[in-house]
Amino acid sequence: MKFDILTLFPDMFDGVLNSSILKRAQKEGLINFNITDIRNYCEDKHNQADDYPYGGGVGMVLKPEPIFKAVNDLQLADSQTPVVFLTPQGKTFDQSLAKDLVKKDRLVLLCGHYEGVDQRVRDELVTHEVSIGDYVLTGGELPAMVLVDAISRLVPGVVGSSKSVIQDSFYQGLLDYPQYTRPQEYNSLEVPQVLLSGNHAKIDRWRRKKALEKTLVKRPDLLKEEELSNKDKNLLEE
Ligand code: ADE
Repeated sequence: MKFDILTLFPDMFDGVLNSSILKRAQKEGLINFNITDIRNYCEDKHNQADDYPYGGGVGMVLKPEPIFKAVNDLQLADSQTPVVFLTPQGKTFDQSLAKDLVKKDRLVLLCGHYEGVDQRVRDELVTHEVSIGDYVLTGGELPAMVLVDAISRLVPGVVGSSKSVIQDSFYQGLLDYPQYTRPQEYNSLEVPQVLLSGNHAKIDRWRRKKALEKTLVKRPDLLKEEELSNKDKNLLEE
């Protein structure tokens, strides 16, 4: 999967893309990044990417020409390639949107800054507007990194085992069940016996029950969307 990132602050991506799982995934050719500095497409002598808003008002607005030129240079032959503008006004990002976007083999992420971007960019180039939550950040770079991380780990092979992706919170509409590792006892706190039993059917039932209970307490809104089978209803009543 290829990510094209358009930003005024390319350095911000260094740490995230060159560490840990994303670094390895690039080495293995599973994902790759093309980061474009929008300023390289500014034609005036000060490399000015923004300007005052028509009609007056506070703040600056990103100019259209550098962004149109930068996107044009990406040669998106395939009009199926989403051009995602990160903005607090967008659709809230969640696991289900990550699952939709990972189906594409290329994604353009446009990071805004200042007060916004010229509306013509949004009307003509942008196909999706995405927010990472109801708060305002200084720019779209952190949100773009959030999307890159969440989507990359859904690319087959990026996370060690596809089982761990399937077991993630939200993947199946539920929060993840509680996890334990060694030691079996720590400061008199014990690992639940069922996990030591070796009985996988029993373990699966326990985990499903715990995931359901946890979701019911912490995120009942998720359970409303999840169709509970009779088996699940019985598990919750046990
Ligand atoms: N840019 C500024 N704040 C944002 C947010 N919450 N989500 C996406 N892009 C943003």
